Amino acid sequence: MQKIDQFIGSFSFDGRLAEVDIIGSIAHTKMLVKTKIINNTDGKQIILGLTSILNEIRNGTKLGDEEDVHQAIEKELINRIGTVGGKMHTARSRNDQVVTSLRLYIKLQIKIVKKLINSFQKILVKKALDNIDVVIPGFTHLQPAQPILAAHHILAYAWMLQRDKERFTDCYKRTDILPLGSAALAGTSFNINRKYTAKLLGFQHISENSLDAVSDRDFAIELVFCLSLTALHLTRFCEEIILWMTPEFNYIKIDDKFTSGSSIMPQKRNPDCAEVIRGKSGRIFGDLIALLTIIKSLPLAYNRDLQEDKPPIFDALDNTKICLRVITDMISSLEFISEQTFKSTEKGFLAATEIADYLAKNNVPFRTAHGIVKDIVLYCKKRSKNLNELSIEEYNRFSKIFKKDIFKYLDAKNIIKMKTSYGGTSKKSVLCQIRNIQQKLK
Ligand code: ARG
Repeated sequence: MQKIDQFIGSFSFDGRLAEVDIIGSIAHTKMLVKTKIINNTDGKQIILGLTSILNEIRNGTKLGDEEDVHQAIEKELINRIGTVGGKMHTARSRNDQVVTSLRLYIKLQIKIVKKLINSFQKILVKKALDNIDVVIPGFTHLQPAQPILAAHHILAYAWMLQRDKERFTDCYKRTDILPLGSAALAGTSFNINRKYTAKLLGFQHISENSLDAVSDRDFAIELVFCLSLTALHLTRFCEEIILWMTPEFNYIKIDDKFTSGSSIMPQKRNPDCAEVIRGKSGRIFGDLIALLTIIKSLPLAYNRDLQEDKPPIFDALDNTKICLRVITDMISSLEFISEQTFKSTEKGFLAATEIADYLAKNNVPFRTAHGIVKDIVLYCKKRSKNLNELSIEEYNRFSKIFKKDIFKYLDAKNIIKMKTSYGGTSKKSVLCQIRNIQQKLK
């Protein structure tokens, strides 16, 4: 092949569309026979030829180098069955053919991604249940804020991923529209039956406007956006894994195989997998920007620029899927060092809000209560003491309202137990949350 033809073509990167392309062509041929646009004998020959190519491709046979995978398959068919193979391309164009293949491919991929997310969510729920009594500090601004259950923290990711799955379901709906039959841009004068082709290929709808059908890549942009958001959610968790594994936090252990040693510093275990997942989000977001930029300002209808849609789509899919697989395995191996996480709840005055709430429940305006507790914390800091190390007399110096029962409110486990609001961090609320997400994961 000439260098310039290679440059114009997409054969080097669209090979993975071979199967869906053939499936699309078989359905199109069946439609051509049904509508008597081609005769039964020709149709049978074409379908037999396509089926044999499909089987060989599935067994690993490579196609000859052509402008693109679609052209390569057509050439191969004509090589095998003669010029009758050329009848397959009646009443269609490469423009509607390419985007039909892409939609078929993305529909399959969405199902795979959703399954991977589901498996990861199941692991998160399992980890939540396995660690249901583990207490960790909750943070805001990365400053210790209030004690929470580790399970509650982990489940936050399960809900993000639940929304991700819903977004993929939504994206699927807009991908599930058959463009085939739009031909190059204007439709066709052949008496085709698009609904029949749609039925054969499992598309819910057929496109309404042939110009839009051949040039629309919204569904692909939406897919890569959904992948980006999933990847982003993974980076947030990975960032926490990285922090929690530092000797300063020392909250968790993960299997050694997800880390690596340093070539020079023998004491180190580096959280490489978490870092690579965090890093891969960069290229996935890049894929989204690439796709948006390729399609921006394109006049109707098909333009060859659109061919450049495939590398970013495939790259975003491949990388999101591998990240999901790796994070699922990595989190399966996660263990909390619960003595350590509990110890951390004793630092950082995590009970401060409880003390303010205590006063507010005893009729002190919350703003005033907040001021009182701020002073108590300052008092503790000066003396290097924890809130539970002050005497009731010391508490009473700040407010006479404090009774001995205040100490109940200073214990992390107790504080958590009291957070019984719906969606809160008490064990009771978290168990309810687990039941709810399990319902969705069935
Ligand atoms: N390979 C191209 C793509 O992926 C399709 C080429 C369309 N060719 C044409 N002559 N209209 O978009």
